[in-house]
Amino acid sequence: MNKGAVSQAVGAHHRICRSDELSDGGTGVRFEWVSDTGERQSAFVIRHAGVVTAYLNQCAHVPVELDWQPGVFLDDEGKFLVCATHGAVYRPSDGRCMGGPCRGRGLKSVPCYEFKGSVYAGLEPAARHLNQHE
Ligand code: FES
Repeated sequence: MNKGAVSQAVGAHHRICRSDELSDGGTGVRFEWVSDTGERQSAFVIRHAGVVTAYLNQCAHVPVELDWQPGVFLDDEGKFLVCATHGAVYRPSDGRCMGGPCRGRGLKSVPCYEFKGSVYAGLEPAARHLNQHE
């Protein structure tokens, strides 16, 4: 899959991409998040400090998408998420506003987890922890 391309609509426990498609501090993968109520919203997943995190692709300043090119969410050093429109800066680990016009408002997170080489949307089922030791 093209990293920047929007994948198919993804609801809880649907696969977003392969784990190896997300390099640490590199390009993210866009997807369409389908909530439990059926609402569809643009979202993305990145890997930072080894951990995958996903957010709605919507700036907290003005509700526009963050990436200036599809899948490019992190700054040149791969340290912070940056909005391409006016430069709001967000912490990758929790989406907290770290500077710019977001003024303390953070990104809305989307639950995601890794399992057997893939990244999935939704909360990690508790049973997965047991299966990982098989
Ligand atoms: S729309 Fe993102 S910083 Fe203004």
